[in-house]
Amino acid sequence: MSHLRFLTSGESHGKALIGILEGIPSGLSLSEDDIDRDLKRRQGGYGRGARMKIESDHAEILSGVRSGKTIGSPITLLIENKDWKNWIDVMSVERRSPDAESEKITRPRPGHADLAGAIKYGTHDIRNILERSSARETAMRVALGAITKKFLSDFDVNIGSYVVQIGNVKIQNSKLKTQNSPNELLSLFKKAEDSPVRCSDKTVSEEMIKLIDRATKEGNSLGGIFEVFVTGVPVGLGSHIQWDKRLDGRLAQALMSIQAIKGIEVGFGFDMAKHFGSEVMDEIFYRASSKEQRAKGLHSQLPTSNSEFATGFYRKTNYAGGIEGGITNGMPIILRAAMKPIPTLKRPLRSIDIVTKEQVEAAYERSDICAVPAAGVIAEAMVALIIADAFLEKFGGDNIDETKRSYVSYVENIEKF
Ligand SMILES: Cc1cc2nc3c(=O)[nH]c(=O)nc-3n(C[C@H](O)[C@H](O)[C@H](O)COP(=O)(O)O)c2cc1C
Repeated sequence: MSHLRFLTSGESHGKALIGILEGIPSGLSLSEDDIDRDLKRRQGGYGRGARMKIESDHAEILSGVRSGKTIGSPITLLIENKDWKNWIDVMSVERRSPDAESEKITRPRPGHADLAGAIKYGTHDIRNILERSSARETAMRVALGAITKKFLSDFDVNIGSYVVQIGNVKIQNSKLKTQNSPNELLSLFKKAEDSPVRCSDKTVSEEMIKLIDRATKEGNSLGGIFEVFVTGVPVGLGSHIQWDKRLDGRLAQALMSIQAIKGIEVGFGFDMAKHFGSEVMDEIFYRASSKEQRAKGLHSQLPTSNSEFATGFYRKTNYAGGIEGGITNGMPIILRAAMKPIPTLKRPLRSIDIVTKEQVEAAYERSDICAVPAAGVIAEAMVALIIADAFLEKFGGDNIDETKRSYVSYVENIEKF
């Protein structure tokens, strides 16, 4: 990241998670409620384990905000782990009691960092690895991402997600992949928010729930696919000039960094490979704005994908998912991510005890059955962090008014292009 940087720390059953975000301009209104809203969304979703019933995440702002506004200094957040009180001895910073010492985890779970991490960090207690590799850490990513969402919403940039597949149950409508206008995307998002599995289709949601129930009963787990979208992005974020400046690459890395995410698509993604070039490029059109539109400031309503109302340069399709040559093209950004099934299973998987070298059943830590709905919320946060970084790279500003001036002048110039 070039203008923003952030770090998270904290173990899954440690006292708390800490996050620091640096680079947000001063003058942005920010409250703990803005952050807690997304923390609550991350905790939800049908198929989560008992842990989420213990936690009721709340982010305390420790620095960087005064009188409800950011002051330009690093923003520090703290989220307490309510479960910590059940693990005080096991997670003690000081030497542990003999009882806790005997609770070492030596049976690595396939599909986790357990074995490779234990070898790499030279420990025979896998707890030292799983405490940090756990997706509990993503609560802090969601909290920091919520700050960047708040920043972006000042520029009418909105980010959302919805689940399109769990196991083999999926939404059939292929239009979902690329062709929706910002309003349609926001409406799918709203519908998904009312679904226990964060899917916009009621009937499909019910099928997904049935499948999760089946997996629960059978001691199994599930993965799935979700979409993340960004509306309101201006043309010109990211760049073609260097590999690490390409926005598609930056977004893919951010999404791939989420635990259990195994594949990313931008726009039409893998389906592009099955088509002729003539079928999946977004042709370019131009329509001059009318006098009335100009008077209302509606000329070149960038960004838009609603071709009916578009003026200036516009597209009728969005196979590219809003990014061409690593640069935003003004259409909504559409990303898809595939999550593997949760690797901790009640139905035991075979493993080897790292001390005795005997064939054993893998350790079982209290676990989710399906976390695809939550992963979508985490992905929104990661996407928000990357888009906010690219936004500040383009428009700069130590205070939000400066950023706004630069943004408005850029958009006015685009209109003259
Ligand atoms: C929101 C979320 C919740 C998760 N919950 C669990 C869980 O309860 N049990 C589990 O074994 N894995 C869970 N995972 C997946 C593991 O964290 C992940 O598979 C593991 O750390 C290995 O990383 P990798 O799959 O990226 O290789 C979860 C992932 C996410 C994103």
